[in-house]
Amino acid sequence: MIRRIMVWDMPTRVFHWLQVLSFGAAYLTAFSERLRNYHVALGYILLGLLIFRLLWGFIGTRYARFRSFLFNPREIVVYLLTMLKRKPMHYLGHTPVGSVAIWLLLSLGIFICLTGVAALQDDASDVVVDMHGVATNVMLGVILLHLIGVVMSSILHRENLVRTMITGLKRVPGQKSLVSAWSEEGIQRAYNWLGVLMVVAVVVFWFAYVRKPLG
Ligand code: HEM
Repeated sequence: MIRRIMVWDMPTRVFHWLQVLSFGAAYLTAFSERLRNYHVALGYILLGLLIFRLLWGFIGTRYARFRSFLFNPREIVVYLLTMLKRKPMHYLGHTPVGSVAIWLLLSLGIFICLTGVAALQDDASDVVVDMHGVATNVMLGVILLHLIGVVMSSILHRENLVRTMITGLKRVPGQKSLVSAWSEEGIQRAYNWLGVLMVVAVVVFWFAYVRKPLG
């Protein structure tokens, strides 16, 4: 038997999958004037999620905190080398290489949302609109790298990381006995109620906005 411990709290998991949904749907609705309201509503939802994630990075649980995935260049290179040797070091939270993509995804997400809001203004310049589009294309490239990283890490660590982002549970290597998911190395609370609240807030905002768009 393998021991699994709770690493990702519910708000981090809900943030992740709502972010995937809102970014994906915002991208698909970006090219039609008829779907403009939906695109803008999805952009506001993504911005709200990212603002929450910024806050959660300071007050959230252990592995959601920014300081748990702030690595220096040396740690990133060392991890990369162990990865190339197919013997990557094991991390319970984000790995040093994975964290690079995550910092980029979070920063690009905020940049895209803010340029989107700026582009909505009557006196918006073409430069802002162009930056919104260019940043989105860069984001697509980083998402591709993120997905390649998730697949590679899953193979090298023999752990399905997509399932980890759904259940919050990660395997601890070398442990045979199945003990509580709430151990010392893991997090102590999952804050399920906050995850539920996030979903409710997003659904309420969606219906309110679609019925009566801002501006
Ligand atoms: C279906 C596609 C996707 C899958 C399967 C996926 C999977 C994952 C997994 C497994 C992790 C945890 C990585 C780790 O163990 O360190 C993660 C983290 C993350 N992913 Fe994705 N991802 C997907 C799409 C996206 C997209 C589209 C975005 C951005 C729009 C994104 C942004 C992030 C961010 C920001 C994190 C860090 C989570 C946090 O700490 O809050 N992902 N993803």
